[in-house]
Parts: sequence; C-alpha cells; structure tokens
Amino acid sequence: MKIYGHRLPDDFLIGTANSAFQSEGAADRDGKSESVMEHFAKEYAGKPQPHQDPKRYLYGPPTFSDELGDDGCFFYDHYEEYIEDMKKTGQNTYRMSIAWPRIIPDGVGEVNPKGIEFYNKVINKLLECGIEPFVDILHWDLPQCLFERGGYEAEEFPEWYENYAKVCFENFGDRVKYWSTFNESQVAAGTGYVHGGFPPFIKDNKRGLLASHHIILAHFRAVRLYKSMNLKGKIGCVNCITGVTPLERNEADMGAVERQIERYFGLFTEPMLKGTYPRVLLRECPKIADNMPEHFQEDLDKWFMPMDFIGVNYYITRAAGYNPDTITKATVIDSFYAAPGQMWASYPAGLLDIVQYIADEFPGVDIFITENGCSTDNHYSEEDIHDPERIDYIREHLRMVSRAIRAGYPVKGYYYWNDADSYEEMWGYKFLFGLTWVDRKTGKRVWKDSRHYFSEVCKTRIVG
Ligand code: NOJ
Repeated sequence: MKIYGHRLPDDFLIGTANSAFQSEGAADRDGKSESVMEHFAKEYAGKPQPHQDPKRYLYGPPTFSDELGDDGCFFYDHYEEYIEDMKKTGQNTYRMSIAWPRIIPDGVGEVNPKGIEFYNKVINKLLECGIEPFVDILHWDLPQCLFERGGYEAEEFPEWYENYAKVCFENFGDRVKYWSTFNESQVAAGTGYVHGGFPPFIKDNKRGLLASHHIILAHFRAVRLYKSMNLKGKIGCVNCITGVTPLERNEADMGAVERQIERYFGLFTEPMLKGTYPRVLLRECPKIADNMPEHFQEDLDKWFMPMDFIGVNYYITRAAGYNPDTITKATVIDSFYAAPGQMWASYPAGLLDIVQYIADEFPGVDIFITENGCSTDNHYSEEDIHDPERIDYIREHLRMVSRAIRAGYPVKGYYYWNDADSYEEMWGYKFLFGLTWVDRKTGKRVWKDSRHYFSEVCKTRIVG
C-alpha cells in the first residue's frame, strides 16, 4: 500500500520522557537526600519568583507554586505499571534520569545500595518490555549538600560529577546504550545563575559563566571516562534550544538572532562538539568576553572529548531584535501567543528550522529530539483526558521530524515530554504535559486521547 504522508523509519527511536525529581516521588525515602530542586521549591513555595521583570507579566511576576514535587507522579512505587503502559503504547524507548541524591546521598563518597537497586529494577523492567533506556545522568537535581559546597561553581565540581558518573556507568553501563551527561544546562546555569529566574535564583553573569564552564568540563570528564570503559553505547548531552527569528529583516536584528542562539545553545554545544566557545560571543559581547573564567580555552584544550550525539529539547521559537544594553546585545520577545491554558505557543515549523541549524553547524552528528511537548492547565478530573490540542501538537511536530529525515538530516529519535502528568518545576501541577492523566490523590492513571494517538504512531510508524 502506498502511504500518503509521513512514515518514520523502522529503526527510529520513539517514546516518552520524564525525569527523576519530577516523576519518582519518594523524595526522602530509602536514603535519598534532598536535591536543589526540592530545596528551592520549599524555600520559595507560594512566593513571587525573584528577579522577574514585572513589566513582562500582566499580573506581576509569577508565583512559585506552593505544591511540592515530593510525590512526582508516584513512579518510584509504580514503575512497573508505568513501564507496562509504555509497552502497551508500543514505544521502543524511554528517556529517564538518575537522581544523584538517591545514588550518592552525600554527593561524594558512599553509594546508596537502595538507589542502585531501584534503577536496576527500572532498567531491567524496561529491557524486559523491549524498551531502550535513554538515561540522563543529571537532570538538574544536584544534591543540595553539594550546592552548599559551591555546586557548579566549585573547582571540584567536575571531579564530583565524574565520580558520580562512574558509579552510574559501573552499575548500569552493561545495559544502558544511550547516555546523556546533563539536561538543559542553559536553564540550570544560565537562567539559574545569570538571569536569576530558576533555582538557585542567582543573578550574576560571571558566576553563571563559571558554572557553565564547570558543567562543560564535567561533561568532558564523563565522556572521556565512558569511552575509556569500553562500554558498548553512545554518550551525548541534552541541550535546549529556542528557535529564533529576526524581529525585523535588517542586519542588526539578524546579528541579534545569531548571538542569541549562540548564547543559548552554542555556548554549550560548540565546546562539547568542537572544543571552542562561539567566536561571535567572545568578539561581539564584551559582557561575556570580559567575564569568562580564566584560562577557559586551555581548560577546553586539556579536557575536550567529542560526544557521540546531540540531544535537543525544542518547545518554542521567539524573535530577537538588536538591543545594545543586554549581555548578548539582543532582546528576545515572544513572536507567537500561546493558546489559552497553555504555557507556550506551539510552532512546529521551528523544529525543522532548528534541525537544519544544528546540522549546518555540526555536520554529521546524530540528533535526538529529546523533549517536545504540549502543556495544558485543564487536568482537574478524569474527564479531562480529551486533549485534541496535544494530538495536533504531536502530529505536527512529528511531521516535521519526518520531513527532516526525508531531507537527509540525521534525526534518530523523538521523545515526547512527558510520559505522565508530573511535577513541573516552579509551576507545581498547574501546567502539565503528560500523555497519561494521574490522579494526584490516589495515583490512578488514565490514558489521555493523546496517548492513544501516540500509540498508533508508535505501532504503525505512520504520522497521519
Ligand atoms: C525542560 C525540562 O527538561 C523539563 O524538566 C521540563 O519539565 C520541561 N522542559 C517543560 O518545562
């Protein structure tokens, strides 16, 4: 039969994603210590998010949710049912993360056997169900005790991280074939340290650049270690990207677009693949060039080790215009409006744009779309499982993935964010992305219409 439309390749990895601190719950059980994400959620519960520009928001700066993520979506206790559901969905992969505070509660030193046991059970169950685990070593949930010792800014951070990564590789590396060192470091170190809009709410450009640099060095150390261990898998990193278009079609705004993309995505991805920081940032942005850590290029030269693939989280596209007063000499504004009840405006065509951009910048590197998802705020009862907007979202983005593949771009996988309604950092349970609705009191799970749709795509490989 001729297929009109889009068919995904047979070896394409397609599945869902979630992270440890957002899904597991059991925040303080079986020896797990507190993470920065849990710590700051408590500290700011119900308070305005600091460092937000009130002019940007109609009703004043957003409030940090007073809901804590301590139950996640109950994955810790119900991982088997969740994974059975994934099997029924027909997906062939699942992206998950390991909680550092569960594996090494003091951040360094003693390994917690209960933590190892839990992830062993999860990984084994996934494999038993024919689902390839894609594992993030750190998805933001740094042990709070390490944050108190300097966190990403500490000179020792790369070493702490390498030791933790070693424990992960030694215990799970025989079965996990896809590893990512970090998730969205731009949010952790850029939004979190430069703009002050994310835990730990520090607003200091220099400290942010140092935090980023240490993350990159830590990444190299884990990649080097992984390669030296001869395990038969691949290792990369998940970076986030915002598609950027020029506010106006003039040179000044085009320059703003370039700097903005480089600051957001290139600042992490270029060192990880080429061993250099984006030249345009060092040349055209004195606030970056003058605040870089000492000997940054020597550090990169010393530790550089290219990764095997790039994971990219794509949600939004924005517009940038020239503004001499900001760090990147650019102002970014929303170019599209989100539909009522949604956190972000959906712009599927932007997915093809970013794939094209990545492939031009980093030719030949495999690309995984490691996150892409639609958030809504109507999930109060079981009735709210009808989500046509999410079906449209998935279909239109997957059509772009298929177009990218047909155009010859090396897109090897797609992960819908996220598997089930879970805790969302700073928003609590207000904006949810899940394919499965979860009753917050009883833990009952019900497939949304979108999960049925996603399941058809996974099984037929036809995006229609
Ligand atoms: C990116 C992050 O990796 C994830 O933790 C978050 O829930 C989603 N985006 C949605 O905001």
